[in-house]
Amino acid sequence: MSTLPDPLKHRKADHAILDLFLKRWSPRAMTGEPLTDKELMTLFEAGRWAPSTYNEQEWRFLYAKNGSKQWETHFNLLVEGNRAWCKAAAVLVVVLSKKTFTQNGKPNPVHTFDSGAAFENIALQAAHMGLVCHGMQGFDFDKARSDLKVPDDYAVDAMFALGRPGDPDALPEELKKRETPTDRKPLKEIICEGAFEF
Ligand SMILES: Cc1cc2nc3c(=O)[nH]c(=O)nc-3n(C[C@H](O)[C@H](O)[C@H](O)COP(=O)(O)O)c2cc1C
Repeated sequence: MSTLPDPLKHRKADHAILDLFLKRWSPRAMTGEPLTDKELMTLFEAGRWAPSTYNEQEWRFLYAKNGSKQWETHFNLLVEGNRAWCKAAAVLVVVLSKKTFTQNGKPNPVHTFDSGAAFENIALQAAHMGLVCHGMQGFDFDKARSDLKVPDDYAVDAMFALGRPGDPDALPEELKKRETPTDRKPLKEIICEGAFEF
């Protein structure tokens, strides 16, 4: 039995930032144990306080707890590669965002930017609580829309898995090898003063 690596031992920031940013990573090893409702609501509460254009709060989260009636519907949206480890998740969440402004019905150009911010709040809160939060694009977006009855006015943005950190040895060999915190590009590759010059 092994335990998940400590991201603070694998990651080094080039400029001093809060440890929480480095502590947040995306493990796949989870125990399959449930989260308490208090934990789950605390995570969504963190998402609730994200910034958004005109304070539109256009994110919506459709969740299913492992073992519940809804679980199969959410789980069956996932590609095979994600099913392999998500079977030990406690909760699966589909992230939506409303594509138009409530005020005037006009298109909101930043709806996915805002739902991404809400996801990151949840991910950071999960890291702070010692829980796993792992984003996913490996699922059937059209099936999510139809099976979860998502109206046209909402975009299906992503899914994420929540759970308790587990034993990497329990993962399929291929995933076990990848169960280590990632590094990042240097700042100079992602910022530039003035016009685009990469
Ligand atoms: C929107 C989004 C989609 C992702 N999709 C998947 C996925 O389908 N399957 C998976 O195993 N990991 C997925 N990931 C995890 C990324 O691979 C991971 O965040 C990235 O490698 C950076 O590593 P870190 O989160 O551990 O810092 C996704 C992450 C995000 C934010």
